[in-house]
Amino acid sequence: MNRKKILSGIQPTGHLHLGRYFGAVENWVKLQSEYDSIYCVVDYHAITMPYNPIKLKENVWELIYNLLACGIHAENLFIQSKVPEHTELAWILGCMCSYGELSRMTQFKDKSEQIKDKSKDSFVSSGIFTYPVLQAADILIYKADFVPVGKDQDQHLELTRNIAQKFNSVVGKEYFKAPEGMYSSTSKIMSTADPTKKMSASMGDKHNINVFAPIDQIRKQIRSAVTDAGERSDRLSPGVENLFMILKACNSIEEYNLLLNEYKNGTLQYGRFKDIIADAVIERVTPIQNNKAEILKNSKEVKESIKRSSAIIRERASQTISEVKALTGLG
Ligand code: TRP
Repeated sequence: MNRKKILSGIQPTGHLHLGRYFGAVENWVKLQSEYDSIYCVVDYHAITMPYNPIKLKENVWELIYNLLACGIHAENLFIQSKVPEHTELAWILGCMCSYGELSRMTQFKDKSEQIKDKSKDSFVSSGIFTYPVLQAADILIYKADFVPVGKDQDQHLELTRNIAQKFNSVVGKEYFKAPEGMYSSTSKIMSTADPTKKMSASMGDKHNINVFAPIDQIRKQIRSAVTDAGERSDRLSPGVENLFMILKACNSIEEYNLLLNEYKNGTLQYGRFKDIIADAVIERVTPIQNNKAEILKNSKEVKESIKRSSAIIRERASQTISEVKALTGLG
């Protein structure tokens, strides 16, 4: 029997921190054994925001190495711009998606506001506006059944389904099937400096723990994580809750239960608590860091293997494009 297909995309920005690892990448690694999985580093999406071309290229390869080190198989991983058919399909799909629909995307509204606030020339590219159409093309070009993403991508997936439906009605055939979001119970890790906010690279180094940071830096960052002001209650403070979350994400369930009990009866010492968490995180990231060191030694071959996988994946995309062009009266 054919395995169900999944596709997801990841932006080549920032480094791989614990939030992104426990919230997405770890799950992607697991899904590979059960699904026909393809993962895409979305560099065409990255250029919708102001960017630096040299930095972009560096970030793409850095992310590829990082994903491989985490356990994504090279044959499942590719670079979006090495499959230009995505943009060709995006053009066709863009003509089946209304201006009004795109205007309602909250990510577009947020991002364009962000740019207006930050830069003096306020350059909002039309790429930011049509971003979700390219995302729909990423998904539909492989006829993915499931898309593992965070809840924040819900609206984009809904739009993808609408576009698929519109396409089918234009061509008079049930060609694209509607993909479903796959929301696995991944752990949402918060910033260690401001635990009311999601851990993210954009807030600065203090806020996130890089999977590839030197071990003593990781320990130091966990030691200085925000906890609470000393007044403990039945409800965990966001900082303490986040530390427990990290411990759970590291699969240290026994310790998690033990320490939670200590918290409840008022004997938990935060110093020791943080040391235990640091140990668990370090145990988790060490093999990944070792993998990365190996990958960097063979970076030339690794690059070749990703170019090969991109070419193989491209064959699937170009098959869809031929069918789509035939159906839409193009070419
Ligand atoms: N928009 C997604 C994000 O910001 C990234 C993305 C691009 C994506 N193309 C995709 C996710 C296709 C899933 C499927 O996280």
